[in-house]
This record gives sequence, C-alpha cells and structure tokens, in this order.
Amino acid sequence: MKNFVLAITGASGSVYAVRLLDVLLYAGYHVQLTISPAGAQVLKHELGLNVDLNAFASHQILPDDSEVSEDSVLSRLRRPHPQSEHVVSSVLSESETNVGKLTYHHYQDFSAGIASGSFLTAGMVICPCSMGTLGSLANGMSQNLIHRAADVHLKERRKLIVVPRETPLSSIQLENMKRLSDNGVIVLPAMPGFYHNPLSLHDLVDFVVARICDQLGIKHEMTKRWGNDL
Ligand SMILES: Cc1cc2nc3c(=O)[nH]c(=O)nc-3n(C[C@H](O)[C@H](O)[C@H](O)COP(=O)(O)O)c2cc1C
Repeated sequence: MKNFVLAITGASGSVYAVRLLDVLLYAGYHVQLTISPAGAQVLKHELGLNVDLNAFASHQILPDDSEVSEDSVLSRLRRPHPQSEHVVSSVLSESETNVGKLTYHHYQDFSAGIASGSFLTAGMVICPCSMGTLGSLANGMSQNLIHRAADVHLKERRKLIVVPRETPLSSIQLENMKRLSDNGVIVLPAMPGFYHNPLSLHDLVDFVVARICDQLGIKHEMTKRWGNDL
C-alpha cells in the first residue's frame, strides 16, 4: 500500500484537506496524517470539527454525517457515505476502489517515520498550506514534523505539493513560492476554476482536489476535463 503524507496547516480551506483525505483513503492509500495547531484551529472554525492533536481519533476528522452540525460547511459539502454508488462513480472507477489506512502523527513527534528519508512515501501534500509553513519550507526551518517531513521530501527529491491560500500576496510570499518551485515543489494554489460550470461549493472543492490527485498520479473522475465529453 503506497504511503502519502498529508499535512494540514492553518490556512483557510481545511475542507480541501478533509475531501482529499476522503479520496486518498477511498482510493486505497495509506495516509500519514499530521496537523498543525493552527490547522486544528481552522478545522474547528470552518468545519466545526473538534480535532484533538494529543488524542487524535479518525472520527474527529472523518465523522459520520450524523455527527456534523447542521450549519457547518462540511455538512453541506460532504457527499453521501463512501459506500454509495454516487461516490464510486464520481471519484474513481468502481474497479479501482479500495479501503486505505490512516496513521496520525503529532506535529511535534520527530521520531515519526515520516521524519526520515528511509521511510518510503509516494509523495507529500501540504493542504492547505499557510504562508507561515511556506516560509519555513522555503528557508529550511525544520521546526515541527510538517516542516521536517517536507524537508525530507525535498532532499530525497520526492513529490511535494503545497496548496497555499492567501490573497493578496506579498513579495516575500511570492519569492518563497518561487524558491520552492525552483526546487521542484509543485505550488498548487487553492484557486478553483469556473470553466466547468460548478453548481455547488462541492464542485469548487473537487476542482482543487482533482488537480492535486492529477499531480499525485491518482486516477479519478471527480471533475469534467476540458476537451472531454464527460
Ligand atoms: C480562521 C483562520 C484562518 C486563517 N487563514 C489563513 C490563510 O488563509 N492563509 C494563511 O497563510 N494563514 C492563515 N491563517 C493564519 C495562520 O493560521 C497562522 O499564520 C499560523 O501561524 C500558521 O501556522 P502553521 O503554518 O503552523 O499552521 C488563518 C488563521 C485562522 C485562525
């Protein structure tokens, strides 16, 4: 089972991360998850999720629909339960569905496997990626497990995708992105397009998550492709 590292940091757009986690698990990957304190704060603020970084349990971030409060963004964006045919056809072809695995690492646990280059992964995604984390990566500041795991992906020349969300951008932030891009990092801003005629927030979220999956080489049918009669 391939490992993908998913780090959630404190930029707006935590719904992208929750959806990506759903898709990676549903596609049968082993997700190595880590969350910064600000990431947990945004998960609470935007999605109403209470993620306890010191006592993590998967239901805190992948709750049953019944546990999600009526007015949270997630309850409006969430698709039906993953077993439903709707999700099977919209995310992956039926023959490609599998059940993955989730392993959580505390953001200060430098003894976690993902802190070492000898731990093999197929890539890492930081989604959403705050400007703070972006700046740390661009300057080699391994101050927490998220920075360290990203540093490892950089030094091992493995796929590293950052999904920044900020606007407007300062020159420092743009320079940090340029520096990361020059070092092989995929800078994939959370900038949904509108040319696929989205009908819901969910369509906009899937637009970004689909682009991440494309970069990871995951086959999916989440969005229409330009030029295809889907
Ligand atoms: C509700 C909320 C939304 C935020 N949105 C953003 C954002 O969109 N982009 C960003 O760079 N920082 C944002 N921040 C600020 C970061 O969380 C803050 O800079 C933090 O230090 C980042 O830490 P981290 O990179 O370890 O997660 C937000 C904070 C909160 C509480």
